[in-house]
Amino acid sequence: MSGNITFTMIKPNAVSKGFMGQIITKIAEGGFTIKALKFTRLSKEQAEMFYAVHKDRPFFDALTDFMSSGPIYAAILEKENAVEAYRNYIGATNPEEAAEGSIRKLYGTNIQANAVHGSDSDENAIIEGNFFFSELEKF
Ligand code: CMP
Repeated sequence: MSGNITFTMIKPNAVSKGFMGQIITKIAEGGFTIKALKFTRLSKEQAEMFYAVHKDRPFFDALTDFMSSGPIYAAILEKENAVEAYRNYIGATNPEEAAEGSIRKLYGTNIQANAVHGSDSDENAIIEGNFFFSELEKF
């Protein structure tokens, strides 16, 4: 059975362009309930920890530089079958390949600066949410 929680970040490119309001509105319009929300900034070391699963990929250094380059929004979202529903909703990893009207198509710049992160499994959704939020910060 799939879980009802996923985790997202609004990435530095989307925040610096002022898209966070539109993106949070789109998230709500998609039927996702915000269970936790934080405006914060990752250090390079924290970005490396968060994306550790990608540490052997050629894009790891550039990705973690980018993700620590400016403030982000981190959020836990709730919806039935949340992980799959959110991944479908935000569009393909590469904004050029993302469906019309999806968050990544609308607000993404390129595959790295693709506007938002979305968890890829129920297990990672829990791990990623716990990376940013204590139990008291989840509603
Ligand atoms: P995200 O959902 O944050 O999860 C991992 C990130 O790695 C992904 O979004 C992309 O931003 C990034 N990524 C994945 N594949 C590539 C790639 N081929 N080149 C650069 N960045 C990538």
